[in-house]
Amino acid sequence: MKLLCLLGLPALSAAVAVNNTNHIFNAIHSSMRQWGSSINHNGMSFFLASVPKGTALYHGSSRPDTLVDIGWMAFDPEHALVFARPPHPPRHPPHDGRVQQKIVMSKHGDSMEDHAGWLHTYLTTKKLRLVYVDGMSAGKSNIGTLDSQDRILFNDSIPYGGVSQETERAKAVCRISAEEWDNRIDGVIRMAAGFEIILCAPEENLVAERVTKSRLHKPKHHEDHKPNHGKPGELLRVVTSRYNGIGGDRVRINYDHFVSVYDSDLNIFPANSTHITRPRLTHLSKSSIQKIRQRLTNLVMDYDIHGMVNWQAVADMTVQQYGRRLQDLVSSPRFRAIESLKAEIAQMWESFTDLGYSSPDVEIQRCTNRFIPHAASKTSLALEVTFTINEQICSTLATILYDDHNYAVAVGRLQELMDYLSWTVWKECHDCRDDEFCAIPIWPQGSLEDYEDPRCQRYDSAYAGENDYWGPILH
Ligand SMILES: *[C@@H]1O[C@H](CO)[C@@H](O)[C@H](O)[C@H]1NC(C)=O
Ligand SMILES: *[C@@H]1O[C@H](CO)[C@@H](O)[C@H](O)[C@H]1NC(C)=O
Ligand SMILES: *[C@@H]1O[C@H](CO)[C@@H](O)[C@H](O)[C@H]1NC(C)=O
Repeated sequence: MKLLCLLGLPALSAAVAVNNTNHIFNAIHSSMRQWGSSINHNGMSFFLASVPKGTALYHGSSRPDTLVDIGWMAFDPEHALVFARPPHPPRHPPHDGRVQQKIVMSKHGDSMEDHAGWLHTYLTTKKLRLVYVDGMSAGKSNIGTLDSQDRILFNDSIPYGGVSQETERAKAVCRISAEEWDNRIDGVIRMAAGFEIILCAPEENLVAERVTKSRLHKPKHHEDHKPNHGKPGELLRVVTSRYNGIGGDRVRINYDHFVSVYDSDLNIFPANSTHITRPRLTHLSKSSIQKIRQRLTNLVMDYDIHGMVNWQAVADMTVQQYGRRLQDLVSSPRFRAIESLKAEIAQMWESFTDLGYSSPDVEIQRCTNRFIPHAASKTSLALEVTFTINEQICSTLATILYDDHNYAVAVGRLQELMDYLSWTVWKECHDCRDDEFCAIPIWPQGSLEDYEDPRCQRYDSAYAGENDYWGPILH
């Protein structure tokens, strides 16, 4: 009996200690999700990603001409519509009175023509091969959202700047792919309020489905509340509907092989930043940056766009299994004594025990391995971190069950585990009404308070407080 049990165990163990295991696990869990990527907004990882042939992508523009060279693509029309508008009027109107009059008087007697622009709908003509830059990587802030692309992907070649350098960034993506990566990559995926693709050669990679004249209506001012700071309610609805993923299998990530700065010996948490969501790369030397960049190049050159195991789905099983449970164990009045706490954990533990043979170590292994796919490559980083995270949880539960006699010690252990795990699900608000969403800072909107204590806010009036989370828009 004993022998059979042991033979049943997969031969997995965390052979090499990986640094920042918790952050790498969370990067897998939050990838391509608006929620977790907004919380862990300073992305430190690069993934290979693909978008299937025949996927609809959208572009908003002041012009009807179909895209050539480089295209900014959205996954949802509501996102692209924000950019379907005439070019911005000059900030300082020209002194020439005739020019000014032309802007003010349009043929409809409206100001600025009729604010209309063009909404382009395209379909991909082939499977797109992309690099996904994780976190709030399209957020033009100076709190670290641009670190990984500006330092690593672009090798410090982009002059300091946010909005003003976006064209340079897009050109750099396509130049790097052509000159260094043998054209193996068609563009990058980034995220701010919604996911976007910077797509190279749209004239080859897309076919136009339609180009329609469109206008975004200004948000209505309701009497009973302040309007939001300009972000249309329709956009917020679609952006937050992607909290848990872009949906429809429109983006597939290769989790078997990816590059993360967390997986290195670099200290990316500067001494005076205790905030776990704010790793920075600004202080690192050129040579350490270039080592990581070489790993990114190797990733692109050596690996297929598809992976074997969907490690995000595996991570989800762990988070769904323990997310609410751990929170319940530390916070419910039902478990305010060591006996009741241990009784609850004993119930969770029942399926890993064998009445004929008790061995905490074997039980911990059973608990640890329950979600790990046996076919997984034994050398993948995703396997390593998924295994370690499960092992941490399982051994903490076993320690409380078998060793602890003191409530404060036991609950302290659980709290320490939760601090280490830092799962983004623990920031979720529950029970928002149908006209509300759980508001966290999404660049460029949101306050420190929204970050610390996310609450349900109305789509039509969200982010009415100080927009002090991201600092000023980086121009
Ligand atoms: C990155 O930039 C440095 C100069 O800062 C240069 O020496 C190096 O060759 C560049 N690397 C690549 C791959 O372009
Ligand atoms: C983890 O980081 C430490 C110190 O920063 C370093 O000495 C060690 O080699 C790193 N381990 C791995 C596996 O990268
Ligand atoms: C850390 O301190 C330095 C010097 O005081 C400051 O310039 C920097 O902005 C600080 N970094 C963070 C993340 O607070």
